[in-house]
Amino acid sequence: MARPKIALIGAGQIGGTLAHLAAIKELGDVVLFDISEGIPEGKALDIAESGPAEGFDARMSGTQSYEDIAGADVCIVTAGVPRKPGMSRDDLLGINLKVMKSVGEGIRDHAPNAFVICITNPLDAMVWALREFSGLPHEKVCGMAGVLDSARFRHFLAEEFQVSMRDVTAFVLGGHGDTMVPLTRYSTVAGIPLPDLVKMGWTTQEKLDAIVQRTRDGGAEIVGLLKTGSAFYAPATSAIEMAEAFLKDQKRVLPCAAYVDGALGLKGMYVGVPTVIGAGGIEKIIDIKMTKDEQAMFDSSVNAVQGLVDACKGIDSSLV
Ligand code: APR
Repeated sequence: MARPKIALIGAGQIGGTLAHLAAIKELGDVVLFDISEGIPEGKALDIAESGPAEGFDARMSGTQSYEDIAGADVCIVTAGVPRKPGMSRDDLLGINLKVMKSVGEGIRDHAPNAFVICITNPLDAMVWALREFSGLPHEKVCGMAGVLDSARFRHFLAEEFQVSMRDVTAFVLGGHGDTMVPLTRYSTVAGIPLPDLVKMGWTTQEKLDAIVQRTRDGGAEIVGLLKTGSAFYAPATSAIEMAEAFLKDQKRVLPCAAYVDGALGLKGMYVGVPTVIGAGGIEKIIDIKMTKDEQAMFDSSVNAVQGLVDACKGIDSSLV
């Protein structure tokens, strides 16, 4: 059987790391696409040359032509620009919205059967726009945010409790970043919910609140340290986890920005929710019941996402 084909749209920091991880894990042949000439070709060749020492079988190539992504099984989109000092939210939205238009049309024309994972920020609005421009089925287009947010949360909790992060589970909902909603009663150490661990004296409510806030600010913390860019190792690893769930039909239960129409009281919008990812793409949205406080946090997150989507519609009148 032929190897799966993985198209990475955007060959920057995250795109290069995605390619390296996909190769090492032998998920398939990788095509790196970027408008910047030489970058995708150079990264593809560099990673291919690591193959003999690492011992993987995967073809790596770089391109500026959408024709080369033809028939891709998975497309992971990181194309776009990051927010720079002096740039307003609407400036960033306008620029990345145009990028989503060209990427969406490229995927529509050359890889219409792919499972598409968007990483470009502002995530929840960009994944919505990418789906609109590509016209692919909603269940085949999703955004990577929750896996990263919950991985950050799990890392901080494992450090606090001095236990393996493999035994820490975390549950997050809502938009990516400031309005993210961590559900502590569904986050556990080996099945013991966090509120119970507070009662058991493993930590205090104040420390837990600080960890939740650090998780919300996780992206900004890395930007503050790197100064010239944003996180790329953990975002790439998170998207690869989602791609692998699709390619291997793992039926993983993963939080991601998915199209929700009916569940959680939502009518047709993209936002971070718990999902099941398998060969069908987003096969299921898990319709959890929230407490009053959780619902209030979720509602404000949903409103923030809706505000960005409305701003996109204001910028591009073809999006209605
Ligand atoms: N088509 C294809 N590639 C594009 C386009 C386009 N229209 N516009 C820009 N790019 C490419 C750039 O040339 C660059 O190589 O997208 C790449 C983005 O890479 P980086 O700037 O290194 O950004 P990265 O750190 O990988 O993050 C990508 O993910 O987390 C988000 O906020 C982050 O939106 C950003 C995205």
